[in-house]
Amino acid sequence: MLSIFRKNTFLVDLIEGITDFHNHILPGIDDGAKTVEESIELIREFENLGIKNFVATPHVIGEYYPNTPETISKAYGELKPHLSDSIKLGYAAEYMMDQHFTEIIENDQILPITKKKVLVEMSYFQPPINLNEILFKLQNNSFSPILAHPERYSYWHSKDLQKYENIRSRGCDFQLNMLSLSGHYGKGIQKTAFQLIENDMIDLLASDVHRKDHIEKIQNIKISKKHLKTLQQIIQNSKNLFS
Ligand SMILES: [Fe+2]
Repeated sequence: MLSIFRKNTFLVDLIEGITDFHNHILPGIDDGAKTVEESIELIREFENLGIKNFVATPHVIGEYYPNTPETISKAYGELKPHLSDSIKLGYAAEYMMDQHFTEIIENDQILPITKKKVLVEMSYFQPPINLNEILFKLQNNSFSPILAHPERYSYWHSKDLQKYENIRSRGCDFQLNMLSLSGHYGKGIQKTAFQLIENDMIDLLASDVHRKDHIEKIQNIKISKKHLKTLQQIIQNSKNLFS
């Protein structure tokens, strides 16, 4: 609830009704929920925040998480019967942009978030050397990339945000992690998160929740007046993706 007496707004006051399109709530196929019981518990916690709509996005990372449309739909099928009708759950994937990903594109095995939007990520150590080629291939196949948590790629952190400008100019949307607004991933990532918001470079917001304590931390995130309007717009854009 919003209060005129409170200096700060909490993020959870703003995100009610959003579709969380980046999370790891499907059971047993990546580093997120391990069992159906854990998945249900996470969804229950989300419900307490007013979030009932989800697109689950398990990792697809080469040999680490070699998920396919088959493994992902199987995990979805295990969870779905346990959910009430008030919960809307779909599934897609979060793709690591590597050699394996180019094969997935070529083999027409992509699971997009919406009809055209595909959630992609990069290694936290270095960007792929053929990043432009991968993006080109994706777009050539009529897909549009959403880059997950741009603020977490510390090799791109800078005052002028030039690297971020470059990739945005290639048609990549940016999805901020809610948790980056707390100090959860470290101060540098938090700082860049706000820097990207202040420079109008964030398009969308999602949770990237893997575990229950992530949701607990989201509950404590405060938003200052300075960032309120821009964040409200980002949240509206995120809702519009699914309306
Ligand atoms: Fe993720």
